[in-house]
Amino acid sequence: MSLRAVKGMKDILPDEISKWHRLEDAFRARAALYGFREARFPIVEPTALFVRSIGENTDIVEKEMYTFTDRGDKSLTLRPEGTASSVRAYIQHNVQALEPVTKWFYVGPMYRRERPAKGRYRQFYQAGIEVFGDPGPYVDAEVIDMVVGFISSLGITQVEVLINSIGGPETRANYRDALLGYLEPYRSELCSDCQRRMDANPLRVLDCKVPRCSEIAADAPSILSHLVDADRAHFDTLQKTLTLLGTPYRVEGSLVRGLDYYTRTLFEVLGKGEGLGAQNALLGGGRYDQMVKSLGGPDTPAIGFAMGLERLLMAMPSEPDPTHVDVFIVAAQASVRSEAALLGRELRDAGLRVESDLRGGSLKSQLRRADKMSARIAMILGESEVENGVVQLKDLEQKTQDEVSRAEAAKRAKAILG
Ligand code: HAM
Repeated sequence: MSLRAVKGMKDILPDEISKWHRLEDAFRARAALYGFREARFPIVEPTALFVRSIGENTDIVEKEMYTFTDRGDKSLTLRPEGTASSVRAYIQHNVQALEPVTKWFYVGPMYRRERPAKGRYRQFYQAGIEVFGDPGPYVDAEVIDMVVGFISSLGITQVEVLINSIGGPETRANYRDALLGYLEPYRSELCSDCQRRMDANPLRVLDCKVPRCSEIAADAPSILSHLVDADRAHFDTLQKTLTLLGTPYRVEGSLVRGLDYYTRTLFEVLGKGEGLGAQNALLGGGRYDQMVKSLGGPDTPAIGFAMGLERLLMAMPSEPDPTHVDVFIVAAQASVRSEAALLGRELRDAGLRVESDLRGGSLKSQLRRADKMSARIAMILGESEVENGVVQLKDLEQKTQDEVSRAEAAKRAKAILG
């Protein structure tokens, strides 16, 4: 076949969709418990939004965005993540004037032109939350506790929760000097990307996957020993609160994330179980206290996270797929097919999920289809049943059959289905 889906982008067919629904429904329910409300943003945004928020020297902006010029000569980009759009919408709708603290969640596809691998796609789905207007640190702990609890409720038990603080502007300025002092003698040994990063944002050198760069980064001074007092106090209180909540975590001083907008709290949850490949970051998040202001909004602290849904699905224990048919209607003769359609309508009006083979076929082949669809009940309708206002109701699990009046059919089916 010549036309195929774009590399790194996948179809999700009906056989797979029930586990997606399970995951998304569970996320929506969990978010509601914490007071988050859903928002939906456009998939396409002005390119400048991502360049200015995620950062010019990040992998996403430098190498991974799907950017195009539309027919009106505007540079547009398929969103690589949801935080930038949330901030744009927060500013655009002047939400800060409506409420002091805003809690949004979103679910949807994101686009990054990365090298496809197991757990890494060019179109992937994220579920995320963003909180605007609360400087923390208690909300930082609540958000981390929420997502760790959520992941465990999915049956994903082997995880590691990493937290770090990269401080605010003052800490960063101090640390930048210390880090550059450390890196300078190694400049020529670093990869060309890192040599550029040293000038643009040296913190990103700590995130490089090139072996020699990570070796050098391993001995770099820790940002944690450079936190100014207010940042240190924020991080200490976060840890105290997490401990009180019983949320497991490990402080990982080398955790830096690939987006430039972060300040203070950073966190990631890694999946440690089987099923995930090298792409084991189930989610990432952090605080971005400068971003609303830097995009032209009011000075507003914010924090959030986003989870990769494909990765969560890989890490979740599998469950048998639920059936999608309650009742299968079998028309015993061609002459009752119209009547079978009417019975279908009656049962559906009563809320039952009904299938039938309106093409007809032998009794046996229709019953085989009922089995194949894992229908619990078959209702057989023949000429004499139509005449007498009854159906033959077959419980396909208990292997019993009896005659019930047409008026009672839906009620009986529901009783069997529980
Ligand atoms: P991120 O770490 O770039 O953060 O992405 C969050 C999660 O999305 C990752 O941990 C991973 O599970 C999933 N993910 C990322 N890229 C891919 C990919 N190519 N294929 C499959 N899954 C992927 C953000 O996007 C931030 N907006 C999170 C955030 C929200 N920070 C504050 N608020």
